[in-house]
Amino acid sequence: MFNTFSFTLALKDFRQTRRIYKDIPKIKERAMFYPDEIIQEVRAQNDIVDVVGSYVALRVRGGRHWGLCPFHQEKTPSFTVNTDTQFFHCFGCGAGGNVFTFVMRFEHMDFVDALKLLADRVHFILPQPGSAPSEGRKHKERAQHAEYNKVAARFFYENLRSDAPEAVQAREYLQNRGVTDKLQALFGLGLSPPGWDALLRHMTAPGDISPADLHTAGLLAKGQNEREHYYDRFRGRLMFPIIDTGKRVVGFGGRIMRESDKEAKYLNSPETSLFNKSSQLYALHLARRTRAKELIVVEGYMDVLALFKAGFSNAVGVLGTALTARHVQLLRRAGCETALLLLDSDEAGTAAAQRSIPILLQGGLRVKVLQTPDAKDPDEFLQKFGPQRLGQLLAGARSHIAFQIKLLLQQFDMDKPDDRIQFAQEAKQCIAHLESKIEMKAYADEIGQISGIAPEVIFNDAKEQQEKTAKTEEGFFPAGAPRARTRSSKEDPGLREARKALLHLALTHRAAATALGGYLAPEEMGDGVYARLLAFAYENTSAPADVVSRFETAEAQQQAAEVFSKPIAYASVPEMEKSLNEMASIIKIAYINSQIEQLGGKNDLNAVKSLALRKKSLQNQYITLSNG
Ligand code: CTP
Ligand code: MN
Repeated sequence: MFNTFSFTLALKDFRQTRRIYKDIPKIKERAMFYPDEIIQEVRAQNDIVDVVGSYVALRVRGGRHWGLCPFHQEKTPSFTVNTDTQFFHCFGCGAGGNVFTFVMRFEHMDFVDALKLLADRVHFILPQPGSAPSEGRKHKERAQHAEYNKVAARFFYENLRSDAPEAVQAREYLQNRGVTDKLQALFGLGLSPPGWDALLRHMTAPGDISPADLHTAGLLAKGQNEREHYYDRFRGRLMFPIIDTGKRVVGFGGRIMRESDKEAKYLNSPETSLFNKSSQLYALHLARRTRAKELIVVEGYMDVLALFKAGFSNAVGVLGTALTARHVQLLRRAGCETALLLLDSDEAGTAAAQRSIPILLQGGLRVKVLQTPDAKDPDEFLQKFGPQRLGQLLAGARSHIAFQIKLLLQQFDMDKPDDRIQFAQEAKQCIAHLESKIEMKAYADEIGQISGIAPEVIFNDAKEQQEKTAKTEEGFFPAGAPRARTRSSKEDPGLREARKALLHLALTHRAAATALGGYLAPEEMGDGVYARLLAFAYENTSAPADVVSRFETAEAQQQAAEVFSKPIAYASVPEMEKSLNEMASIIKIAYINSQIEQLGGKNDLNAVKSLALRKKSLQNQYITLSNG
């Protein structure tokens, strides 16, 4: 009923406010180009109760659907799905959001993949994303390549199961290496026929695919002399399809079955618009199904297979390439928090670990490092010692620090006093950045033990160095400048409630938004997600569940959904008005305070004074509601 009331404001600095909120940076603009209408359409066609119900057993009670929360361990249901609002919410762990949020979190997908999955589910054909025609073309080409690869993968798969003598041999090879039928099926292993044109003939026979297309897709090679001569790229090789998290076959690895010096052991698909080995992890589509927070990273296809067979299905492989930031991103999207590098025990493996550690740390992952003792790689280790021993080894895996200290040790001779000192000094550098003092102390003890230098001295030295670094870093920031994360954890819960309640009102009452637009700028919300929500409220109002879709990450979606989770009833218009004023001024004062705090280190008295004045003048401002 309050929709019929409009708000008028005592303060009319509309123009200024509009300018401010137009300028706020869009927080992580969606990395894709589907128009909002499409996203809304897909959401509308996917009833949240149906979708969630296909993953979680739901029961109706009190007008809501209840089930066991898939995002935390529980024995009694505190997870609810609401048909009316199209939101889910867990009273136990606080998880919440719309149907996209649910799929993103459950499937560990990003927004675009969740959108595709839900569109597929209702046979909704998504338009080519991207406004630029070249982007559309590329998208089409990639989809086409994936389609060709799928046909090829099936062809190889069936060929491996045929009666052909080479297939019998290949199956024997696999059995000898312990790759069971079940494992072959799980990974879709196949065999490329030994001739020159088996795949070419198979795929061009229907007449609608040209050899040139298959060449671009990386399945055929092209003769160097004769211009238009194409032949099968993979011949007589064991084929490992490489499947991405969108379940597309993006490329292949092919292994020869008889060791040879003439041919490379593995041949991979060439780079195409679909395949780039620096942005793929072998078996990630399977490993992420385990929802493990720790993923094991190995070097080879065969290592991945061996680990899966031994029951460690949280393993992924890098495709014979250096680990990249893109790999780390993929790991994180799969819900991984710790990467356990389980690398070959040769020098190359050690070097790979050293190179990978900083990349993983930079990407925000914890890192553990292991190399298999008495075996060249995990596959061989399993063959020799079995799954139980590997389990013990993995359980005892230590952080990258222990690995770095061990490597360092190899450079020094602990029988020489000078070496011991230098070792201790360099090892100290490795632990000086550790946030946890407990961890720092534990490693200091270890370094002390190795070098014979008192652990307290090493610990104190490391701590001192850390403090020094912190001081120089502070020089780059004004004192008290927002150290974003630490602040939000200390945030006043009353302020948070005020922000949520105000946004709820602004997003559900068109008139409230219009009126507030002259009073409160989005950036004054003091938080990126809230700022965007207020900007949305000013732009237009869509259904709450659609507003949530406009955020890209599951975390942001959840935060946005929380705004709608507690509908607030106002007994009367004056009460609503009073409440709105209270909330707005709490938010404004908090914002001004944060600005004063930021100025603290700058000794800018005038600026502080003017902010204090602004704060005082708030007392005289009042948003009034009038009927009409
Ligand atoms: N690799 C490659 N090209 C090569 C050799 C290796 O692309 N000529 C990549 C493959 O992805 C391979 C990985 O590097 O899986 C690790 O190589 P390696 O340890 O030699 O292979 P394994 O998977 O252990 O294979 P196998 O046990 O059959 O020798
Ligand atoms: Mn191997």
